[in-house]
This record gives sequence, C-alpha cells and structure tokens, in this order.
Amino acid sequence: MPDEPLPNDSPVGYVVGGTLKDSLAVRLTVPPQQVQEGSFVVIESDPWQFYGLVTDLQLGATDPRFADEQSEKRLPAGLAKLLHGQTLFTNLEVLPALMLERGPEIDSPDYPAWRETHPQDPQPLPVKTVPQHHAPVRVAHAGDVAEIFGEPGGKNYIVGYTREQGHPVCIDLERFVQRSSGIFGATGTGKSFLTRILLAGLIHYDKTSLLVFDMHNEYAFDDTSETGDKVTGLRTKFGSKVQVVGLGAGASIRGNTPNFNLVLGEKDLRPEDIEMLTRELNLKETTPTTLDALRHSFGEANWYSAFKAMRNGAVERTEEGKTVPASDSVAFWANQTGVNVAAAEGLHSKLGRVFNRPYIRPDPPKNILDDIIQLLDEGKHVVLSFGEFESDLDYLLVTNLLTRRIRETWEKHTNAFRTGKAKEPRPLVVVVEEAHKLLNREMASQTAFSTIAREMRKYYVTLLIIDQRPSQIYDEVMSQLGTRISGWLGDEADIAAVLSGLAGRDSLRGMLARLQPKEEVLLLGWGVKMPLPVRSRRYDQRFWEELIGKEKPSPTIDELTRDLYG
Ligand SMILES: Nc1ncnc2c1ncn2[C@@H]1O[C@H](COP(=O)(O)OP(=O)(O)OP(=O)(O)O)[C@@H](O)[C@H]1O
Ligand SMILES: [Mg+2]
Repeated sequence: MPDEPLPNDSPVGYVVGGTLKDSLAVRLTVPPQQVQEGSFVVIESDPWQFYGLVTDLQLGATDPRFADEQSEKRLPAGLAKLLHGQTLFTNLEVLPALMLERGPEIDSPDYPAWRETHPQDPQPLPVKTVPQHHAPVRVAHAGDVAEIFGEPGGKNYIVGYTREQGHPVCIDLERFVQRSSGIFGATGTGKSFLTRILLAGLIHYDKTSLLVFDMHNEYAFDDTSETGDKVTGLRTKFGSKVQVVGLGAGASIRGNTPNFNLVLGEKDLRPEDIEMLTRELNLKETTPTTLDALRHSFGEANWYSAFKAMRNGAVERTEEGKTVPASDSVAFWANQTGVNVAAAEGLHSKLGRVFNRPYIRPDPPKNILDDIIQLLDEGKHVVLSFGEFESDLDYLLVTNLLTRRIRETWEKHTNAFRTGKAKEPRPLVVVVEEAHKLLNREMASQTAFSTIAREMRKYYVTLLIIDQRPSQIYDEVMSQLGTRISGWLGDEADIAAVLSGLAGRDSLRGMLARLQPKEEVLLLGWGVKMPLPVRSRRYDQRFWEELIGKEKPSPTIDELTRDLYG
C-alpha cells in the first residue's frame, strides 16, 4: 500500500531512457514506497498514451560516493535533504505493453478534423515505438484499467483487483473460451478457488457449456476450505443448470446423490483407450500389435468383452494326455491369430486392473455418455465427479474416453453446421485438474486432449487446464494456451513453462516468483491485452451476491398468509 494516496493523475516520474526491445527507465519523483513492482503505469507522450508494467525498482546516485556516505549524519538535516534530492534517486524499470492514440480533447478546436480522419475510437495497440524523453508517468486509474481490461459487466468479468489501488480487472469471457487456457500455481495458491470463480462467471454468462472433470469432488457440492469455512458448490447455486454425474453405480459425492451415475459399456472401450494407459499400466511395445489383432478378430465393439472373457493360462489335456492351451484361453487365441503368446498373455494380465473396474459393465441399462453429450449440447453444464475412484488409472481412462467422444461429436456438428445442415454448435469448455497427467510429453500425441488444445478451437471445443506443475505439460500444448493465469511458482522450469512464447518473459519471471503465496495471480497471454498481477477476487458470500444477487430468504408463514389473503 502506498504511504499516502497519490492525487489522481499526478505523475510519479518521467521517462529518462530505455529501449523498445527491453524496458523503459523512469526517474521516480515520489518516495519509492509509493510504487511497487507490478504497478500498472501510464506514460503520456502526445499523441500517444503508453501502458506499462513496473518490473523493477533501482536505487541510483549521480556519483556512488553520495550513496555510500551517510551525509545526513554529517550535514544539517535541511542541507542533507537538499543534497539527497540532487544526487540520489530511484529509477523504475517499466515494461511497455500497449500504446493508444489519444487525439485532441473533445472541446479542442483540432478535435473535429482529427475525428474526421479517425471515425472509430482508437484501440490499444502493441507498442511499436517509445515515449519521448521526460514524458510524465502516472499510476493507472480505474478508467485506464477499464480501457485495457474492459468495463465490468456483460462479457467483462471481474477476476481480481489491481494490487495497490484495488481497481477491478476483468477477463473477456468470450475471448477466454476462444482458445484453451490454463490456471497454474503451486499447491495452495488458490487455483481451485479461482477456477470456481471463472466457472461461475461462465455459467452465469451462459454462452458456453462446461464439462468439468472433477477429480477431487470439489466443484459440484458444498465443500469445506482449509480454514474450515463453507465453500459453496456450483450445483448449490445454479441448480439444474449444473448436472452432477457420479462415476460408478450408486456413487455418492460428499454425501450427496448425483443426478446421474456414469457406468461405461464394454462396447465403449476402443483399443486406443488402452494404448493411452501405456505408462500407467507399464505396457510393452508389443501392445499395439496385440490390440490390432484383437480388433481384427472381434471387431471394434466386441474386442474388449471377448478379451476379458478369455482365461489367461487355462490349459486342457488332449486325449493323448498332452497339455495344450484351453480353447477359451488367451494362448489359444494368440496361436490361432499368429500373435505372440507371451505378449498377449502379458497384456491380458496387465489389463486385469481395467477388467475389474466396477464402472465398466457388459451392458449398462442406459448410455449415459450419450446423455452427457446431449446435456452439453442443450447448454447445461456437467460436473463429472470421480467419487471414490481417485486413481490415475480411473482419471485417465474415463476422461479420455469421454473426451474422445466429445471430440467426434463436436467435429460432426461443426461440419454439419458448415454445410448448412445444422445449427451452430454450442461452444464447450472441458475443464481438467491435474492436467499434466493427461497432457505430458508422452501422452500428448495419443490423447484427445492435445488435439483439442491444438486444433479444436475450430470445432468449438477448448480446454481449461489447471495444474501445479506446468513444466510437465507438453510444451506444444503450453504454447497454444491463450489465457494463462498463474499464482506463485517457485520452480524455474514451471515459471519458464508458464511464460513460454510470451513477450517480456525475462521481466515477468521475477514477478511470478514474488507473488503473494495465496490469492494473487499474474494474468498473461493472448486472452488479456497486457500482463498484470492482480489480487484474486474472493470467492465468498459477497461474490455470489454480486454475481446473482441476494437470494430471498424463504417466506415465513405470516408473509405467505399475507400474500394469500391480503
Ligand atoms: N479467491 C479466493 N477466495 C477465498 N479464499 C481463497 C481464494 N484463493 C485461495 N483461497 C484460500 O486458499 C486456500 C487454498 O486455495 P485452493 O484450494 O484453491 O488452492 P489450490 O491452488 O487449488 O491448491 P492445490 O494445488 O493443492 O489443489 C483455500 O482453502 C482458501 O482458504
Ligand atoms: Mg486445488
């Protein structure tokens, strides 16, 4: 917080040097405590207004002797102050981000001529030049923040506040869902809370459907925070707009009954769903060949049931007394199809962990996968809670299977729309926690997720990935992320991953490492016009009041009687 509030618009310094490629140097004319790293500043340099971010503060002296010597001890106070004013100073390093053409004031005689040549209001542009020497620098006020980040309301959704002045900072929700995005930060920095805030905003804005893979059962029903406070769930506030799907028959999520239970049919599993588990199940490189042979023998829909039904290692005695593989054994099938017996038996035994998943059944009564897709298509939001199934195997298997189906469906819908045969598909955001499990370097080439991150934008599907270890996410996926919101990160590799492909990353690196450990994030990437550290919006009662208004308490008997009988 500044020592004392600065009068609105009064300069805090002036430009003394710098380059377009690096940073600008600004001589500070107020005490250094009044400006901090990450401050959003405006530089007025007619006819342009530059917007930038303070990335460093440096103490300087016209001669090092003046800095070394404690002249205030040697000289009378007044004289020392005068000397300091002349010889000691503070410089700001400012990362210039945007520039906006200002034009003359509306009541100036030059205004009509200027407006003639500028029929549209000028838009902020990436910086292409530098401000003049001695251009005054001031701290941005609420109007500047709104100019760049949007006036709160409609698609402009408040996600935080500037750290010093507390001006609201918005994210454009329409832009946010146009490309995949990511929320990062070490454990406990507030990723899940910020995700709740963003999801609530998207549901309220109601232009996109959400599918949330809720590995830790956090988002649907009420939860308790680390500090013991109640954390309101999305289902609680949005009612039937949010449908909760529990994995497995009879699943209960934090003691609540979900709207549906997801039971997968054996026919839903494709060989590629198994290939994706290569690392998790430690599968051999012979696996694809064996799976191919299974598909060939039994068909796309039946290979899984047929393989599961085989008995591994079962033998029979021939009439001659010889021991041979039983006719329903894995080896028998392998011999018949010319597949390596050991490879097939090995795969069968490793798939034991999949075969015994209780949520995969030979013939589930209803195809819930189709229902989920239909709900999303109709504009509802689905939270898939994993309930008691918390292993990586469950997460990988179910998310991929569902995402593969979604990808196929949305591609089909988009193509139908493009040829004029169907309505425009509803945009969909797939939300994944612990994204590195699905999008690491090894998996990225195989999963439907990386396809979505790379190209599904054209098919109305994007991802919102949440992760504490961004460095473990495949770099090709990271570089595709439009909006990145990151809390504190300590690890160099994680910081580099979050900043990959962005301008000014050298200056931003330190800022990420110096965020508050909680409830402070840096907004970055294509989705925001310039990077800015903000204090996260708080997810509490007041948040809900601001978003959907105060809920009326249920009427009392007296009130009901009065309403009925006057
Ligand atoms: N925006 C917020 N509003 C209110 N409280 C918050 C907010 N952000 C963080 N907190 C507090 O910080 C704690 C940790 O936040 P959160 O659970 O979101 O961390 P996380 O980054 O998801 O951690 P993990 O990686 O371990 O899941 C919360 O329990 C809450 O008390
Ligand atoms: Mg979390």
